[in-house]
Amino acid sequence: MKRVLITGGCGFVGSNLAIAFAGCGHDVTVFDNLSRHGSEILKIRVMAQGVHFVRGDVRKPEDLAALSGAFDLMIECSAEPSALVGTQGKDARYLLDVNLQGAINCFEWARERHVPVIFLSSSRVYPYDKLNACAFSEAETRFEFTGGCAGVSSQGVGVDMPLPGARSLYGATKLCAEFILKEYAVQYGLPSIINRCGVIAGPWQMGKVDQGVFTFWLANHYFKRPLAYIGYGGTGKQVRDLLHIQDLVDLVLIQAECLMQEKPLYFADIFNVGGGVRSNLSLQETTVICQELTGHKMEISGVMDARPVDMRWFITDNGNTPQAFNWQPRHSARDVLADTFIWLKENEGLVRQVFLEPTETGK
Ligand SMILES: NC(=O)c1ccc[n+]([C@@H]2O[C@H](COP(=O)([O-])OP(=O)(O)OC[C@H]3O[C@@H](n4cnc5c(N)ncnc54)[C@H](O)[C@@H]3O)[C@@H](O)[C@H]2O)c1
Repeated sequence: MKRVLITGGCGFVGSNLAIAFAGCGHDVTVFDNLSRHGSEILKIRVMAQGVHFVRGDVRKPEDLAALSGAFDLMIECSAEPSALVGTQGKDARYLLDVNLQGAINCFEWARERHVPVIFLSSSRVYPYDKLNACAFSEAETRFEFTGGCAGVSSQGVGVDMPLPGARSLYGATKLCAEFILKEYAVQYGLPSIINRCGVIAGPWQMGKVDQGVFTFWLANHYFKRPLAYIGYGGTGKQVRDLLHIQDLVDLVLIQAECLMQEKPLYFADIFNVGGGVRSNLSLQETTVICQELTGHKMEISGVMDARPVDMRWFITDNGNTPQAFNWQPRHSARDVLADTFIWLKENEGLVRQVFLEPTETGK
């Protein structure tokens, strides 16, 4: 049995990881300030599985320092995960404090105790301005990549895509945090893995318009809420890959074993992690599946112009991640939505309020 600390452990990813690690017999502590709408529900869910909860803020090193006892692994999942936060200048400071200073505080805590780290980074580190400038054709239901971008192929965006460009303040915080972790790995020998995740979805995601879009789209069909195709002519042809949360959990369990062994193999090595060419959808295609699952056909309005930092197309090229960890995503895009639909149906009473009454801050 190992002691595992999950920062942001009452979020979508963190709570699913916490329950999986506890299910494998580990002693798991989640550390969270419960700022995300719905995290109170996830706190109760993880505690029911024997996970310890500590209320704390990654922006405050003293909160992390107050954690008692020794740990064998930290999984850093805390974040303000919306790429739109900070785009209007509003909340920029908050985003930087949580995502960058918070991540540095976590790495510093891990460095002082020599605790290996798995860091949940994002595909948002790749520059959207370069991606939007690639060549695309317009098929009936989606945009298709046709070339003209270094590091990008029909298999998706690779880890070797050149990084100069604009990536959103959110993406910039993740990239800066990656750089710091790399230095900690090299200078201090801190075992660590960086997962650059594409869109993750599935049960227990409290999706909202600017984060968790597939769950948000399905939930708005389920609860008969208004929807809009935003940008690129307002027809919903923009494409994303999506990874089932269970596939991510499977991968992180394997990575944890690699880091907790006597001679860890990874020192801030970077891995792309996403649904890839086998699991991706345009919004239009998502609508069709949501209609089939819920039986509800919604009026969907169209907004011509994209928001700052929007992307026409993103598919993750997982590169060597499958070989490195003997892992493959098992779920299709349809599986992700179907499992999320079952979860919504089974937990409607519990989560209805989260989807119907977003907080004033949108958290
Ligand atoms: N969900 C995705 O599609 C996706 C994709 C790529 C990367 N990621 C990354 O994965 C990680 C987990 O994402 P998620 O989808 O679970 O997000 P989430 O919002 O559901 O979870 C984040 C958790 O962090 C907590 N938190 C926020 N600020 C905090 C602070 N200052 N101190 C302590 N806790 C704080 C929140 O309360 C929440 O429980 C994040 O780092 C995110 O950037 C997620």
